[in-house]
Amino acid sequence: MARPRIVLRDPSRFKDPANLSWERYVALQARERERYLAERATLPEDALAYRTVSPRYLERAVDQFANNYYSELSATHYIATAAANAPFDELKKCCLFQLADEQRHLEMDAEVFHRAGIPERDWLPAWEAPGTTCRFFRHVLELEDSVEILVKANFVAEGAAGPGTFAVLADGAEARGDLFSAVNHRARVRDETRHISFARALVKALIEDDPANLDVIQRWQDESLHLFVEVARGGARREWWDGFLGSYYKIALPLGLRPTALPSF
Ligand SMILES: [Fe+2]
Ligand SMILES: [Fe+2]
Repeated sequence: MARPRIVLRDPSRFKDPANLSWERYVALQARERERYLAERATLPEDALAYRTVSPRYLERAVDQFANNYYSELSATHYIATAAANAPFDELKKCCLFQLADEQRHLEMDAEVFHRAGIPERDWLPAWEAPGTTCRFFRHVLELEDSVEILVKANFVAEGAAGPGTFAVLADGAEARGDLFSAVNHRARVRDETRHISFARALVKALIEDDPANLDVIQRWQDESLHLFVEVARGGARREWWDGFLGSYYKIALPLGLRPTALPSF
């Protein structure tokens, strides 16, 4: 069966909520970069060298580091595809600015791996192990349709991994002495919020354009959450998962979407 597609018949319904131009985007990123470096400069050398965490923390954190790093690496690829295939320029512009954001996040996460002394050969196996975000992102990387990519990755996945879950990750890392990860999570969330808001504007425009689009978006949501649920299977990361669904439903339900029926654990 052919994959369902959605076309925004009236592209003027979509406006970048951040109203960015190239000039405004570059200025914003420069300010973000300065703020990030200032926060990082307050961290003690021991924390940056991962001497403030226990060996057991590092052992268990490798799959979290992999979830962070490979999600960002995947994002640089799928958002480039979404930009290349974007059906109209306003949407392409949002994708291209996001591409630059995701590259910055990717570099932050690579630095975590390096500073924590995790050899590169261990990164990918950690992500390919069961219980990670790998299945979801590999699915998104196979997609070519910009709208489907943005609904699944930006609206559902980033909408879910929004402010709530990054706060859980940042606080959890900080409590275990991993101050560098905490600073990174708090920096990335400011960009992710912008990625979510343009995806939300797109979903809203699609539903206004044709209410029948809601069924396809519901199906994309269900597919995405089913691919994600393994991250919390067996009760692992329960607090993270509750925050994940909670963040997402807060933006999705007001637009007319229904909760996905998911296996319980
Ligand atoms: Fe990101
Ligand atoms: Fe993002």
